[in-house]
Amino acid sequence: MLNTIQELKQKHNAVILAHYYQDPEIQDMADFVGDSLELSRKAAGTDADVILFCGVHFMAETAKIVNPNKKVIIPDMDAGCSLADSAPADLFKKWIQNHPDHIVVSYINCSAEVKALSDIICTSANAKKVVESIPENKKILFAPDRFLGKYIIKETGRDMVLWNGSCQVHEIFSEKELVKLITKHPRAKVLAHPECDENILIHANFIGSTSALINYVNNSNDTQYIIGTEPGVIHQMQKHNKNKEFIPLPTNTGCACNECPHMRLNTKDKIIDSLKNLKHEIVIDEALRIKALQPLNRMLDIV
Ligand code: 13P
Ligand code: SF4
Repeated sequence: MLNTIQELKQKHNAVILAHYYQDPEIQDMADFVGDSLELSRKAAGTDADVILFCGVHFMAETAKIVNPNKKVIIPDMDAGCSLADSAPADLFKKWIQNHPDHIVVSYINCSAEVKALSDIICTSANAKKVVESIPENKKILFAPDRFLGKYIIKETGRDMVLWNGSCQVHEIFSEKELVKLITKHPRAKVLAHPECDENILIHANFIGSTSALINYVNNSNDTQYIIGTEPGVIHQMQKHNKNKEFIPLPTNTGCACNECPHMRLNTKDKIIDSLKNLKHEIVIDEALRIKALQPLNRMLDIV
C-alpha cells in the first residue's frame, strides 16, 4: 500500500501534509506532520504541484488560499470542524457590523468567507502574539473559539468581545476525571490545548498548541503526562519518548472517546483514492481568495 502511495505521489508530484490529530498510520505516511500554523507555512512554501491535505476542510482551504496555482485535495470533503461551523459568514458579518471600530481577529478554524471578513488570522500557536501586535487603544473582536479567546484575554490582559463558538472535542473534557487522574498520578504533568474550557486549563502545568505540547514532552524530564487534547498527538509523543507514559484525558461522558470525528474521517483507502483520482479538490472563488489571503498574510508576516 505504501508503494502505491509513493508511486502516486511521484506521478502527480504530490506532497502529503497531515495534522497531529490524524490516525497514527496517516501521520506516518505523511511528508510533513504539524500543527495548524506549521501546516499553513508548509503549504505556502511547497514546490509540489498537488497538496493532499490530511486534516479538515478549513485547513485544506487555507492551503488553497495561499496556493492558488496548486491543486489542493482532501481525502474526505465531509471532514469539517465544529468551530468553523459555529461561525456562519452571514451572522459573522452582522456581528462585525454591530461592533464598528473593532479589529477582527479570527482563529484559523473558520471558513474562507469568515477569513475574508477578518483583519487578521491567528492559530493556537500565535494567538497571544497576534493579539499583542494590535495597538492598546484598539478594541478587539475575537472569533470563533470562546475558550481560546478567554485564555488569550487572561494572557494578554486585553478586553476582547468573544464569538460564542467552541470545539466539540475540547469542550467535553471532564474536570472531575482530570482531578481523579491528578490524585492517582500526582507526579504526572497536565498538558492542555487552549481550546479547552477554563475548568481544565486551571489544572494545567503547560498550555499550548499541539506542536508546543509535543515539544514540551520532548524537552522535559518528567515521565508521566495527562494529555488534554485530541489523542492523535500521543503518537508523536510516544514515538520520540519510548519510556514515558501518556494518559489521555477522558470526556465528561465517562469514556475516552475524545478523537475528533472530523479529522478521523480520513483513512488510508481514501488517501489512495484521492491521489489516484486527484479528488476531492478545494475550489475557491478568486475574489474571495484574495480577500481571505490578506488577513492570513498579516498573520504570517507577524510570526
Ligand atoms: P493546533 O493545530 O493549532 O494545535 O490546533 C488544534 C486544532 O484543533 C486544529 O483543528
Ligand atoms: Fe475542529 Fe475541534 Fe476537530 Fe480541531 S479538534 S478540527 S477544532 S472539531
